[in-house]
Amino acid sequence: MSDTLSPRDRLIVALDMASTDEAERLIDRLGDAVSFYKIGYRLGYAGGLALAERLVKGGAKVFLDLKLHDIGNTVEEGVQSLARLGAHLLTVHAYPQTMRAAVRGRDSVPGSALRLLAVTVLTSYDDADAREAGYALSVSELVGMRALAAREIGIDGIVCAATEAAQVRAIIGPDRLIVTPGIRPAGSETGDQKRVVTPSAAIRAGADCLVVGRPITAAADPRAVAQSIVAEIAAA
Ligand code: C5P
Repeated sequence: MSDTLSPRDRLIVALDMASTDEAERLIDRLGDAVSFYKIGYRLGYAGGLALAERLVKGGAKVFLDLKLHDIGNTVEEGVQSLARLGAHLLTVHAYPQTMRAAVRGRDSVPGSALRLLAVTVLTSYDDADAREAGYALSVSELVGMRALAAREIGIDGIVCAATEAAQVRAIIGPDRLIVTPGIRPAGSETGDQKRVVTPSAAIRAGADCLVVGRPITAAADPRAVAQSIVAEIAAA
């Protein structure tokens, strides 16, 4: 997939708004500068899935960042519904049973364009959080183990920080996707992101697609920022 993506398709704008009205105003302002949108919990649970369907019908690509995890049958049927909606990317937690069920759900929809991404360990977790949750392994051991399982199960890619992209690439090989948030164009506010990199550094580190939220959504001229990020991706 990475070779077939245009620079514009490598930029995914995070629609972390509270309402679809607000999201649609931004989408109108971005116009043809952006072709790929991410919808997560906040907007997803506030009409975002219907918006996703409208975006797909209008020719855009949609990343549903829903981080699914449940019993296999429930995950399989949920993924089936999301594949029928026409989404292009979907996150699931990297538990082997969950990942296998997600692959089954996607494969049951003929012609689906849906690519499954695994979240190995949430970036808000450190070793103490993992211990508190009952794991005897460190976060980095868990990340390595889960990335390997994702590859073996046939997951299409991994979401990780650009700073981890090289380590993850070594595990999953050259053909799968690496999608990275925590992107900040030089000179922009970092907000609550702790490990940020510029768009060109992320591409050079091996990322296929970049998720960018506030640097675009909170900009005075979101379209101009999006265009300059796409130009930076193209140059990298
Ligand atoms: O506004 P900002 O560019 O920080 O948004 C990044 C997007 O990526 C948000 O939707 C955020 O939830 C998501 N994300 C992240 N870090 C992770 C996983 C997801 O920033 N580790």
